[in-house]
Amino acid sequence: MDSKIIDGTDLSAQIKAEVKNHVKRLKSKMARPPGLSVVLVGDDPASAVYVRNKQRAAKEAGMIGNTIAMPHSSTEDEIIQVVNELNIDASCDGILVQLPLPDHINEATVTSSIDPLKDVDGLHPNNAGLLAAGTPRFVPATPGGIVQMLLRTGNNPSGKRVVILGRSNIVGRPISNLLSMKGEGGDATVTICHSRTKNIGDVCRSAEILIAAIGIPGFVTSDMVSDGVVAIDVGINRVEATDRKRGYKLVGDIDFSGVSKRASAITPVPGGVGPMTIAMLLSNTIDAVGFH
Ligand code: GUN
Repeated sequence: MDSKIIDGTDLSAQIKAEVKNHVKRLKSKMARPPGLSVVLVGDDPASAVYVRNKQRAAKEAGMIGNTIAMPHSSTEDEIIQVVNELNIDASCDGILVQLPLPDHINEATVTSSIDPLKDVDGLHPNNAGLLAAGTPRFVPATPGGIVQMLLRTGNNPSGKRVVILGRSNIVGRPISNLLSMKGEGGDATVTICHSRTKNIGDVCRSAEILIAAIGIPGFVTSDMVSDGVVAIDVGINRVEATDRKRGYKLVGDIDFSGVSKRASAITPVPGGVGPMTIAMLLSNTIDAVGFH
């Protein structure tokens, strides 16, 4: 692979191997393997693929992974009931409710019903608050994966100008907290851009590290970056591709062909940030074992 392309599949394999070793050591002390439970509501095809990949990775690491699939018509109370059962299930260390949830469900209400000590997604307000306070318990998996990617490829964010596109609770907000925190993996100067940002091109061109997490295919074009930028693409967008058997292809929020010509390092889609998210979820599940 071109040396400037950050290979998320390879990096995530390193982390998964570290997790697998950790699971082996834990198993000699525990009566059972670490358990990760995923709640999947509805039949969004992309979510089904992500959940399958998460469960496969959990099993490969020696954990018990189980998925609770619920119909699209499930009510908020029914989903919270399932979460409550997992909260008191002693064989379950980590709980993840796959997002997005159907429109009639309030995601924040469901997320807040997860036991904060089993919240391996780090989305419960307690965990989001601890991260914002600079004392994280569970770091959301995608932001955690991005920090690992930067550190493990010699792109330490310390002292760098970082621009983040997107202010979601799952990526933009937590990655801004992580990268601006004191210490290893932090110490960056961080700017968040969003739909009301003026002169977004100027802001992006000031970035030494640019992180795109807005869900708009190819939003970041080569004229929006400076030479030598480290470009991290969190977008996973399905766009129609009649030449592909399945009728679509996956593209990121960054126009790869243009931006890669100017970047010193860039993540591909697929095979970039996505695999790191899964590896960090497993790492969080190991941490959860220590919390109860
Ligand atoms: N949907 C897309 N990414 C994620 C994630 O990291 N966690 C959850 N729960 N849902 C997602």
